[in-house]
Amino acid sequence: MAPDANAAIPDIRSADQATGDYRDMLVRLLTRQIYAETATAEVFGRSIQVAPTWRDKYLAAEFAFEEATHSQMVADLLEDLGQDSEAILAKRPDMMSFWGIDLENWVHIACFNFTVDRAGSHQIMEYEKSSYVPWAEKMVEVLADEEGHYDNGVESLRQFANDEENFSEFQRVFNDLLPNTIKAAFGRPLGPDNDFCLEHGLKRNTSEDVLNRYLTEMKGYMVETELKFPPVAHLEAKGAILPDSSKDIVNSLQ
Ligand SMILES: [Fe+2]
Ligand SMILES: [Fe+2]
Repeated sequence: MAPDANAAIPDIRSADQATGDYRDMLVRLLTRQIYAETATAEVFGRSIQVAPTWRDKYLAAEFAFEEATHSQMVADLLEDLGQDSEAILAKRPDMMSFWGIDLENWVHIACFNFTVDRAGSHQIMEYEKSSYVPWAEKMVEVLADEEGHYDNGVESLRQFANDEENFSEFQRVFNDLLPNTIKAAFGRPLGPDNDFCLEHGLKRNTSEDVLNRYLTEMKGYMVETELKFPPVAHLEAKGAILPDSSKDIVNSLQ
């Protein structure tokens, strides 16, 4: 989409101005976000027990509080739109089994931080520029926290890279987590929902572009640590939908 096309999309400055299909899509996107934020808060909360050092435990507690704060911000946005956030959360699927993470296993938690949590951040980068201004404004603080989470995810990856035995386990967990993450965070990269979001400024970039931005950022740290992408056939067999441009990125680091 050309940058000047965005300029023609009107901002929506309050909940009562969000109406019709726009409001419905907004509620759907916020529902997806609150599912991810609350599940992530629970992952970090549980990981206090399994973290290997006091520093890791302290960071897990800090991140759990930040994710809980993000969850509350999204709950408030949903309530402003007339939704019952507790009722929405009561219907949340079991995200831990969806992502396929074992909360008793530190390798899984570290890999989650590098892989799953960062995919959410790339969606939030879009919401920070949303035409729904109350949402965009709140995402500034969320993204600042998420940078800290990712720095820690990268640091953990580097630690595992220096530990041959555990690094092969990290690679194995990564191969399983990545397709589930792509499915959960990016869904169908092309289609009518994606078009609607772009037309109404609920996102500013296509899901294909956001997915590629995520993979390319990740690749930078993977090259450094010799972590590899799993084969495209493995990702597709597990249900991830990849446009050709995304397959090219995956194929470039095998
Ligand atoms: Fe978050
Ligand atoms: Fe996070």
